[in-house]
Order: sequence, then C-alpha cells, then structure tokens
Amino acid sequence: MALSGRPVAVSAKVIAWQRVHGRHGLPWQGTHDAYRIWLSEVMLQQTQVATVLGYYDRFLARFPDVAALAAAPLDDVLALWSGLGYYSRARNLHRCAQVVVAEHGGRFPRSSDALATLPGVGRSTAAAIAALAYGQRAAILDGNVKRVLTRVLGFDGDLALAAPVQELWQRATDLLPLHDVDIYTQGLMDLGATLCTQRRPHCERCPLAGACAARAAGNAERYPVKTRRLNRGQREHALLWLQHRGRWWLVQRPAKGVWSGLWSLPEQASLPAWQQELAGWPGRAEVLPTIEHALTHFDWTLKPLRWTLPARGAADALGLLANAAWASPGRWVTPQEAFALGLAAPVRRLLQSAAD
Ligand code: ADE
Repeated sequence: MALSGRPVAVSAKVIAWQRVHGRHGLPWQGTHDAYRIWLSEVMLQQTQVATVLGYYDRFLARFPDVAALAAAPLDDVLALWSGLGYYSRARNLHRCAQVVVAEHGGRFPRSSDALATLPGVGRSTAAAIAALAYGQRAAILDGNVKRVLTRVLGFDGDLALAAPVQELWQRATDLLPLHDVDIYTQGLMDLGATLCTQRRPHCERCPLAGACAARAAGNAERYPVKTRRLNRGQREHALLWLQHRGRWWLVQRPAKGVWSGLWSLPEQASLPAWQQELAGWPGRAEVLPTIEHALTHFDWTLKPLRWTLPARGAADALGLLANAAWASPGRWVTPQEAFALGLAAPVRRLLQSAAD
C-alpha cells in the first residue's frame, strides 16, 4: 500500500501510542541524566528489562555518577555486574566512565557520533542516549527496532550484509520525527518488545497496523530477512589512520584470519589503547564516526582515530613507528597507491571519506 512507511504518519502514531500504551516508570525513564540512561542502555544490550531491574538500582547506589564509577576499582564494578553476563560490557563500562571523566570533563558528549566513539557504545546505543537524554534526532536500530521497521517498510534486504543494513539505517533516519524524539525512540523499543514480537505479533493492537507493509501482505514473520543465522559474536577494535605529508600508513593483514592478506589500518583493542600507545606523539588527533561491520561470524565495531603527524618534528614518532609491532608489516602510501591495493572494504570506504 502506498501509505506504508510514510514518515510523519509513522512517527506520530508511535509517539501517540507510547504516551498511552508504552512502558513508563522504569527506573531509567523520567530522567535526562545521560549517565543513568547510558548505564541502562548498556545493561539492556543483551539482557531483558526484568533482569536489569534487579541490578540497576544497586549499581547506581554504589556508583551514583560517572566520576564515582571511573574512580572505582574494576573488581568492584565486575562484582556488581556479576550475573548479568557478557562481562566485556562491564569492562567497557568502566573504561568508558574513565574516558568521559578524563576527556569530556565528566559529561557525556551530546552528539550520537561523539557518543559512539566511547568504549562499548555502538551506533544504536549512542543514538538511544542522544535521543533519550538530549532529544537529539538520531536513529536507533537494535534487534527489536530492526524487526519493527523492516515489517512496517516491507524492507526485505538481507541484514546479514552491510549494504542493506546501511540502507535500513538511512530509512530509520528518514522516519525520525522533528519533535519528541525521546518518546518516539522509547515507543519503537516498546513496540518491538511488547507487540511486534518475533512470533505471533499482536498486530490487532499495533498503532502501525494500517501503515505496515508486512501486515498488509500478511507476512510479518518473514521479517527481518537475515540469511546467516549463526551464533554471532561481537568484537570491537580501534583503527589508527596515521597521516604524514599526504601519505597514510597501511599494514598488511596476516595470511590467516579476517581480511587475510588485505591492506588495512593498524588496530588496537580500544581508543584509549591508542592514546596510550601514541602518548607524546606530535600532531592532531580526531576520532571519526564508528563503523559497524557485519562479518560471517561476528559483528565488528570499528572506531577510527585519525592522527595527522606534523610535516616537521615527527622524527621521533617515525622512529617509534618503525619498531612498533602494531605497525608491521606496513608502509607509507599515497592515497592513489592505497586505492590500488587490496583494501578491506570498510577501510576503503573510510579512506575514501577523506576525499569527500
Ligand atoms: N531496551 C533497550 N533500551 C531500552 C529502554 N530504554 N527501555 C526498555 N527497553 C530497552
């Protein structure tokens, strides 16, 4: 039907529905405190609301603000996380608090792009924080919301592949309302959790039923389309895009493993790891928007750091580079040479963004 997925109709309906039928009174609602919202979003990443409820208040009682969390020993954080699972979340949480204190003056950044540079904060979590805490127009796309939107839009691109996922991000962004983005965001989450369920969705109660392509076709359970239903893992790394005199430092990936033999950027576990590695290096550092890349067996969150060495006065850094394990095997290349190499696709797109 022509009506399906019309932006204003969709967002207005979601907002009106959330106000009346959505979830209210959860402990992380009714606040615009980014710390509290961030904490809830990280806890809710792989865990149901009912489980998180048992942890959230205790965590906040012990760590009432980001400074308290940053100052705490990691062991205390892990102890309070115990039972929530996915402990890399707790480690990232602690590191993130330290980055917010050390680099952002103890305040969470306001834009979703800046939030997405923080440890453990992917694009959707960043957007949720930006929308819920600051009312920013940023689109979320977690598992529940992918289901809601693919059904409403009749979007049958394969979400195991990067290009359709990118397209869906764009569609999600196009649907954002001009106002009440926080209510809209919560409404999409609530719809996905309560009505637009994986099996036997409750379309008869759904505010979007009249605008939903899948409802019209009677095939809601077909969505979202994702061909590779494997036990997917999650990984996160930070990439260094080192520039000097118009050249870029590229490294060749090992013959085994992901992107075998392709050229890429040097990699560390996190942005803080790069900051440690490059402490004292001259030049200008710039954290670029996070890249979400889907591979066969895992989803890879890549956080690029662009570091421009000055034309003069970089001799010490260049000496260190020549001996750094992370820089090997590598070489300086011009952009033209880089694009002639076998580059990993997301790295190619990233480097091309320099030309935009
Ligand atoms: N899942 C992820 N974020 C959520 C939120 N803010 N409320 C309820 N469920 C969620």
